[in-house]
Amino acid sequence: MQYEYIKEALENYGLKLKYYRSIESTMSTIKELIKDKNDSYFVIAEKQVNGKGRRGNIWHSPKGNIYISFNLHLQKDIEDYFIYNIATAISISKTLDEACNIQSKIKWPNDIKINGKKISGIMTEIVKFKDINNIIIGFGINVKSSPKNIEYPTTFTKEINPETDNKTIIDLFIKFFFMNYYKIQNSDYESILNEYKNKLLYLNENINLEIDDSVVLNGNFQDINLDGSMRIKINDVIQDIYSARILNDRN
Ligand code: BTN
Repeated sequence: MQYEYIKEALENYGLKLKYYRSIESTMSTIKELIKDKNDSYFVIAEKQVNGKGRRGNIWHSPKGNIYISFNLHLQKDIEDYFIYNIATAISISKTLDEACNIQSKIKWPNDIKINGKKISGIMTEIVKFKDINNIIIGFGINVKSSPKNIEYPTTFTKEINPETDNKTIIDLFIKFFFMNYYKIQNSDYESILNEYKNKLLYLNENINLEIDDSVVLNGNFQDINLDGSMRIKINDVIQDIYSARILNDRN
């Protein structure tokens, strides 16, 4: 199997590697695996036929890009799960910086962008099996191609650096993610949050924010709270927003 080289590293972190040529979605496969045996898995698929994005969107998943879901048993309070989102976003962003020799950015809450174009997306789900809370983290990285006829601009790593390959990218991700995971286990949230803010787009800028797919608010993006919510100043009133979509990059 072509990913044999990461098997041992993953096992050291307590995760079992599962590799598939083609599946519906790594998100559904990992749930089946956990349901069967409450272990931690790292699922890689070469291609997904029913890739899922956030907000019920489709995630285009042809062969050549990276599709991964992995789960961890949540040791912290369930409310703390945003730190895992942040840790994943930073890890992907740093991976891409190193692989492409470029400065990638994060769009709140967790899209990774290069030159204003989306290159990676992350989704997380909490599932409970046999009294254990698991966080499932799913992410896709465009390596060989990216969809062009969707509502936002996209790019892929080979467009930036043709030398990039899936193996190196996955290897780097594992290295960066588990460095952050170690920090989470030691409750060092502050340094993770600071790193996240350094890579965050639109911080201290005016943004258009779409709430519940309908209302659009305009305000100044002031900060990120430890629970992952965004602090925004709208008409001199400070508000914390938990779920919304920044529209500044929409065509
Ligand atoms: C987003 O909408 O930005 C999140 C996209 C998440 C895509 C990944 S690809 C691997 C995993 N399996 C899926 O079906 N979705 C996630």
